[in-house]
Amino acid sequence: MSAPRPAGRAAAAPRTGPRAVEKKHTVTLIPGDGVGEDLADQVVKVIQATGVSIGFDRQLSGRRAQAKSGSPLPESLFESVRKNKVALKGVISTPIGAGYESPNVQLRKRLGLFASIRPVRNLPGLKARYENVDLVVIRENTEDMYSGIEHEVVPGVVQSVKVVTEQASLRIARAAFEYATRHGRKSVACVHKANIMKQADGLFLDCFRRVAGEFPSIRPSEVIADAACMQLVLDPYRFDVLVMGNLYGDIISDVCSGLVGGAGAVPGINVGEDLVVFEATHGDAPELEGRDAAGPLPLLVPAVHMLRHLGEAEAADRIMKGLGAVLADGSRLTRDLGGDSATSAMIEAVVAAMPPPVPAPGA
Ligand code: IPM
Ligand code: MG
Repeated sequence: MSAPRPAGRAAAAPRTGPRAVEKKHTVTLIPGDGVGEDLADQVVKVIQATGVSIGFDRQLSGRRAQAKSGSPLPESLFESVRKNKVALKGVISTPIGAGYESPNVQLRKRLGLFASIRPVRNLPGLKARYENVDLVVIRENTEDMYSGIEHEVVPGVVQSVKVVTEQASLRIARAAFEYATRHGRKSVACVHKANIMKQADGLFLDCFRRVAGEFPSIRPSEVIADAACMQLVLDPYRFDVLVMGNLYGDIISDVCSGLVGGAGAVPGINVGEDLVVFEATHGDAPELEGRDAAGPLPLLVPAVHMLRHLGEAEAADRIMKGLGAVLADGSRLTRDLGGDSATSAMIEAVVAAMPPPVPAPGA
């Protein structure tokens, strides 16, 4: 699938006065709940330290937005993402077992972010069960068990409806094969449970097979979801690109994160026709709010991917080098990473360890 083109803009006509400096990029920043605001501040600091010209249109969401405007996802947030085309998002708290549909999920559906791409690679310096992992989870993001359709049939009996459509299944299969083609990947594995859900997963698998026929140079394979989890843990190197429905995608993404050092190592890249939202997939951690103690990786890693998407690869590489040095050194890590440093101290260390920018030719 093509990640939509960067949202870089042509420089606007110069204005006078102190506000005349136009940013090269503007992205929507959705800090989310819990430690989201704290992490957003820290991540913005790192990005600004690279010197990239980027403006952040910060949008309230979740509990704070609910308290202020009566909705965890105010309209202004959608308007901002549609306008800027690129967003960086923390986790919005999801009520468990009751309450409204997860705002994270609502946002994906309403913005038509039909694919979640999760590149699973080791972060330099981050301790992990496996080294040199390189696979990509491509998850359908709008339907399946995330339809939100549930009802009580009679007291003591409830149904949750798994919705699988031909349209969304063909679209995600095509997205996976196109991604594989564009990134020089060799194979795409379809993860399913069509032995049990013969109609729902049967349709998903059938769509995968139809699309596979259009991409003769990519090897298709099929693997049942439970066996896929086991095989990933036994030998992650046997996989390349994996495509699956929403719930298996949620679970397998976390299995994969576990292979490379935890949820912070793997960003969520939610892609629609012309929008892309880079998001933390875990870590609202309300108990750490305001304590300068949360691990920065869950928002920092998506931010690095966002910079690449914006065409700022050099800045992204510099942050990764700084981060790699800090992770390898180990003395300025937050608690989740095995240290006892404050978030701000770890971020300062990352900035200090970033190599200087490569001078422009002729400079
Ligand atoms: C993820 C998360 C979300 C999901 C939560 C935060 C709603 O686990 O992005 O993987 O279930 O999709
Ligand atoms: Mg998840």
